[in-house]
Amino acid sequence: MIILGIETSCDETAAAVLSMNDERITILFNVVASSASLQAKYGGVIPEQAAREQIKSLIPVIKEALETAQVTSNKLDAIAVTYGPGLIGSLLVGVETAKVLATIWNKPLIPINHLIGHFYANWIDTQPPTFPCIGLLVSGGHTDLVLFTDHGKYQYLGGTRDDAAGECFDKCARLLGLPYPGGPQISKLAQKGDPSKFRLPIPMKGSKDFDFSYSGLKTAVANIVNSKQFTGYSKKADLAASIENAIVKSLIDKVILAAQKYNIKQIMVAGGVAANQKLKENLESRVKSLGENVKLHIPPAKLCTDNGAMIAAAGFFEKKVIDPLKLQADPSLSF
Ligand code: KG4
Ligand code: ZN
Repeated sequence: MIILGIETSCDETAAAVLSMNDERITILFNVVASSASLQAKYGGVIPEQAAREQIKSLIPVIKEALETAQVTSNKLDAIAVTYGPGLIGSLLVGVETAKVLATIWNKPLIPINHLIGHFYANWIDTQPPTFPCIGLLVSGGHTDLVLFTDHGKYQYLGGTRDDAAGECFDKCARLLGLPYPGGPQISKLAQKGDPSKFRLPIPMKGSKDFDFSYSGLKTAVANIVNSKQFTGYSKKADLAASIENAIVKSLIDKVILAAQKYNIKQIMVAGGVAANQKLKENLESRVKSLGENVKLHIPPAKLCTDNGAMIAAAGFFEKKVIDPLKLQADPSLSF
């Protein structure tokens, strides 16, 4: 079975062609065009501009994915597309394009929730998770804990009450004068820093629910940056290390709490922040302490940030096929 996946929920224009043989999912070709460097100039994503870039890039990106994968439209079994959540202008470009292609090529159209799609990066070219499984989604707009009992069956455990973890990375990076997207920038700088120099609160430390909160951490960072102590302080890296530490610790505490409370042996992480090396290393060692039979799944970094491969992968398991005339982009779609 071969699926074309299309993803345009924010500033990435992405398409991928994946195949599934004997339950093994393989990437034939995966292409991501990003307008992030353009957005970087403004310190964040300008929705109108992101949508205009989607229009320019999407057809060439789809063409490149199919040609390089050496898959002609008649060999495709279905088209999977992100229909929400995200920026409405960006989503519309992907959704309307997928509707037209599904109609003219006469292919089934599979609508994918972007949040669920992120988790399916854990099914690509690897031994996938088994159910039940705790899922942590950490992206620019979301920080959510979900308990999956099967494909399409899940219980929402909790999420952020304000900012998302990725958003906190991005906003703190901006306070430190670093460009967008801030997560990778803070992470790089943090490697040279000493996290013990600045004491930051660990968000929601000790709380026994599955919620998160990052606006307080952002305010604490803003207070430090605007303080006399920081004026002329030469090692921004120390503060970057403290920020990364606080975010990573708060995420790991809640994942472990959920795995213990529900006695789950499979844990998966997804979303852009899952590309963070410190999160990966620290979570690996905490998961190890839960016992040898507990398994952690984190996708390779390039499948953590937005891409079409995860959308195609989700398409192999999504039972719903929709009439192309009926599909509508939904910017506020949730779990
Ligand atoms: O999943 P994603 O590509 O887009 C959304 O669906 O939001 O996530 C983007 C977020 C941004 O906030 C970015 O700063 C963060 O993921 N991110 C990282 C890293 N790479 C991307 N955060 C921390 N460490 C990284 N290495
Ligand atoms: Zn995403």
